[in-house]
Order: sequence, then structure tokens, then C-alpha cells
Amino acid sequence: MKIDPWSSTTYQDYARLRDEFGIEEFNDELWNDLPNPHKLLRRGIVFGHRGFQLIHDAVINGKPWAILTGLMPSGKMHLGHKMVIDEVIYYQNLGADIFIAVADIESFATRGYTLKDTKELAMKEYIQNYIALGLKPKNCRIYFQSKNEDVKDLAYILGKKVNWSQMIATYGFNGSSNMTHIFSPLIQTGDILHVQLEKFGGIRPVLVPVGVDQDPHIRLSRDIAQSHRLYNVTNTKDGRIGVFVKVDENINKLLENAEKVLAKLNFTKIKCIRDYKAIYIEDAKETDIQKINIELAYTETKFGGYGFIQPSATFHRFMTGLTGEKMSSSKPESAIFLTDTTDEAKKKIKNTKTGGAISLDKQKKEGGRPNECVVYELFLYHLIDDDKELHDIYTSCINGEKMCGNCKKYAIQLMEIMLKDLEKKRKRTQNIIKSYL
Ligand code: TRP
Ligand code: SF4
Repeated sequence: MKIDPWSSTTYQDYARLRDEFGIEEFNDELWNDLPNPHKLLRRGIVFGHRGFQLIHDAVINGKPWAILTGLMPSGKMHLGHKMVIDEVIYYQNLGADIFIAVADIESFATRGYTLKDTKELAMKEYIQNYIALGLKPKNCRIYFQSKNEDVKDLAYILGKKVNWSQMIATYGFNGSSNMTHIFSPLIQTGDILHVQLEKFGGIRPVLVPVGVDQDPHIRLSRDIAQSHRLYNVTNTKDGRIGVFVKVDENINKLLENAEKVLAKLNFTKIKCIRDYKAIYIEDAKETDIQKINIELAYTETKFGGYGFIQPSATFHRFMTGLTGEKMSSSKPESAIFLTDTTDEAKKKIKNTKTGGAISLDKQKKEGGRPNECVVYELFLYHLIDDDKELHDIYTSCINGEKMCGNCKKYAIQLMEIMLKDLEKKRKRTQNIIKSYL
């Protein structure tokens, strides 16, 4: 299996995906001591991550960190799109700087929208809803890729360390792929890394919350961040930790700088071998690598480097569509749009596939299957915040005490409240939308 960010396949087997692509499991220890962990984290909907430990530590120690994510406007915003922004709003409340890229270049390249259409769609459908959902203007910046010179410049420069074979292997590009499409992963890397430029708050941990289809872009960005570093910290064959200078300019200064950083970190058994452009640390352990690596990153801009810290990412599951396949803007009956009227939503939920048995009798006897029920998914992802209430629904479904008709009614009721609230709040966004751009 290959993760293709531009296809629309669903991925059912998330554990397998983790194994195959080396995504880490999003364990309890990563979130249970964060303030009021969000339901998407608590409930395993965010199922995997790369490098989230850095974010966890930044939150716990009150250090600066940032969020960058992107939206690709193509059709209306639905509940599946809402998840990322729910996460973003949670992290904003924890103190992260927020950056949101509108992927108008990508949408133009892969979905055939004009830049003008994309702009309208982004403003009306996405940004208005983001604000209605609770995104605050403070420390928050939403921008369009096509208008962001810093991102585009960076994309161009970062491309130097990627070659065509790597792009083919990662994305399956071929001779008939269009050049704008081919370039768009570099733009996305520009999105992800530009927040660590001095102008945007400097070097710091950055979290990119996304659906798992975006993992190829995450891997590319992490690779590129690392390949632009001036230092490489690693354990050597004989078990020592080494700091290696990767470039040929300023070697003496870089070695001297590294010695200072290591002294500051209280390492004492340091041996510098000039000819190897290396420093060996006898009293460091493998678990110290990350700390050393990051301390060095912060000093790299003095020597003309970027000092990018590898961006972290979390991956959430996709919502099942109301029809049983993937939720998709192009199939209106599969999705609930944030701008749906309550009547439209009601009709869609009524027709939804549930995990109920074929007859009431049978369901009373054998119970329902909430794990295979899209109505239950609506509760789980969006409609019920209280874990106890959710748990009660789960058990009464399994025990055959709850019947699908009533359950759907309750989902419709909660959905109506949510949609009406959003509608009201969207109306108030008109005059403040500018303060985000
Ligand atoms: N490619 C993303 C999508 O298809 C959108 C996107 C653009 C993005 N730039 C980003 C996502 C940076 C995360 C980070 O939805
Ligand atoms: Fe789904 Fe509710 Fe039916 Fe259980 S009772 S299968 S949760 S709709």
C-alpha cells in the first residue's frame, strides 16, 4: 500500500499503516498530562504521530511552539474537515502560535480550480467556519500560498536537497505530471518550515496536525529540515555520541560553537577531531541526542544555517461517510456540511447506515455494533464531549437496550444545535475576518 495524498481511498487499518510507514502510536503518556485533553486526542481518533514528544515537552515546560496546518479548498467544508480545526483551536488555547495555509496553489494544480475560485471558497466555506468554531485572531495568521513570498522563496531553495527520483518514489510522479503539481509538495514544505524563520517567530517546535494521507508531505518536510542542518548528531558504531559538521565553510567556528553548547549542557568528556569535522562526547547517552541536536539548532542561524527543528505531526483517522464510504465533498449525501440547513442534515442522518441488527427483535437480543455505526461516529467525533455519556450510549447499544431510531433522533437533535450555533456565529464573522489574514 502506498499513501497517496491526492487519491480518495479510505484507510481502514490504521495500526497497519503505522507499522508500514513508521508512524508512532499516539500513546496516553503523550496527552494525558496536557491541560483538558481534547476528545479527539482522548478517544484515539488521533492515532499516530511523528515527534510529538517535542510538543508535549514544550507545553509542559511553557516553551514557545507553533502549529501549522493547511486546508485545500475543494468543495464545501464538512465534518471531516472540522477535525483539524477542532485540534487547532484546542492547541491555540494551550498557547501555540497558529499558522494556517490556504493551499490555493495545490488546489489549482490538482483539483482544477482557478486561484480566484479557491479564494472565494476558502473565505466563505472554510475561514468563516473556522472563526465560527472558535479560532481566535490573537497569534493567528491565515495566508494564501500563492500570495506568500516567504513560503514560495523557501520552497524554491529547499528544493535543492531533493531530487527527482525521490519525488517519483514518494508521490508516483511521472512524465505526464504537470509541473505545478510536481512543485506543490515543496510549497507545502515551505508552509511547514517557514514558521521557523526569524521573521515568523524563529526556531521552535512546530506541530502539523493532519489526516494520515498527508504523511508523505510530513516525511518530506522532516527530511528536508534535517538535510539543511549544519550539524548532525548521532551515535557512532562504537557507541559514542558524535556531533558532525556537515558543511565545509566555517568549520573551526562551528566546532568551537558546538564545544560551547556541549559545555553549557554539562558534558565534560569532549574530544574534538578537526580532520573528521567531528566532536565525540564520551559522557552522553543515546537519550541525550535530541537535546543536543536542538540546542545546536538554535545556534545555526549565526553561521548562515536555518537550524530547522524537524516538524512534528499528528495523524487523525478519517470519518466514515454517512453512506458508508469516505466522507467527501463531491458526494453530498456522504457528508454533513457545516453550512447544511437543519432539514438537510436531518434527512442525511435519517438515511445513515447504522450498526443495528436487521430486526428490532434481533437487536434487542444480540445488541447493536457501535463500532460499525456512523451515527455513533458522529457522537464520538463531534456531538458528545462527555466521555461518560458516550460510554453509556456505547454500552446500551451493545446490550440491546438502545434502538437505532431513537439514537438517530438524538443525533439529529444535537446536530441541529451545532449547525444553528455555527450559522449564528458565521454571521458575526464578516467584519472580523480581515484581522486573521
Ligand atoms: N495538502 C493539504 C491537503 O490536501 C493542504 C496543505 C497545504 C497542508 N499546506 C499544508 C497541510 C501544510 C498541512 C500543512 O489538505
Ligand atoms: Fe448505532 Fe445507536 Fe443503532 Fe447503536 S443504537 S447501532 S449506536 S444508531
